[in-house]
Amino acid sequence: MVQQRQLIVAEQRDVTPDLRWLTLEAPELTRSVRAGQYLLVRCAEAGSYDPLLRRPLFVAATEPALGQIALLYAPNERGLAWLARTRAGDTLDVLGPCGRGFTLEPRTRTLLLIGAGPGLAALLLLARLAAAQQVAVTLLAGAANAELLPPAYLLPGEVEYQTFVPWQLSDFIAPGGTAATSSYNLPAAIAWADQVAVALPNAAAPALAQLIRTTKFRWERGFASALLEGPLICGVGACGVCGIELRKGIRMLCSDGPVFDLRDLP
Ligand code: FES
Repeated sequence: MVQQRQLIVAEQRDVTPDLRWLTLEAPELTRSVRAGQYLLVRCAEAGSYDPLLRRPLFVAATEPALGQIALLYAPNERGLAWLARTRAGDTLDVLGPCGRGFTLEPRTRTLLLIGAGPGLAALLLLARLAAAQQVAVTLLAGAANAELLPPAYLLPGEVEYQTFVPWQLSDFIAPGGTAATSSYNLPAAIAWADQVAVALPNAAAPALAQLIRTTKFRWERGFASALLEGPLICGVGACGVCGIELRKGIRMLCSDGPVFDLRDLP
């Protein structure tokens, strides 16, 4: 349920020159938050409204034993640069958890994750939660440079982690949904998986859907889901800026998503 919360910073550090790992005291959230859900973090001094908009950040880890959650982000703009200067003991004003996240299907024993950009943080959490349930997990992560990739130590040791730098989806999937010429055999990975979860540019969804169609004889709901990109401003479906057209009509990215079944995308 979306609530306004005052969360204490437990720790903040660089995990690469371009990525920050922010740990918050949030015992209520450690067991309830789902991978793909996000917090809207106020990134301004008390009494200031500059910048005005809260920043959406995906939960990247939960530590129920410590009562802590963690966020992973690149401080590449003014608001997140302010956030990067906060220190242990500071209090952050957040709304969340917001949105609908990924569902790990009970039948899933093999999970393929593919991501790039801010949504990679959500896949880190999904990988952790799945590995804790003895699911075999492969995570394919791409970025323009190595400093934008989460270090392997943020994942459980049993997760297979493959990184691609520089990377673009067309390295794997050609337009139209055929396998591209690549050293990585994505169709084989899709055939191996009981479930696929992606956090990629939205333009990748049709090609990925087509590749799944040609790889799997049966493609049931719940097999493949995508965390879509777009504005996450109010988090509760109130301001109307994030509407997206799906097969069943308009949905709000911020509250109906940002995770949707790939079969629901046009
Ligand atoms: S961001 Fe306001 S309705 Fe979605």
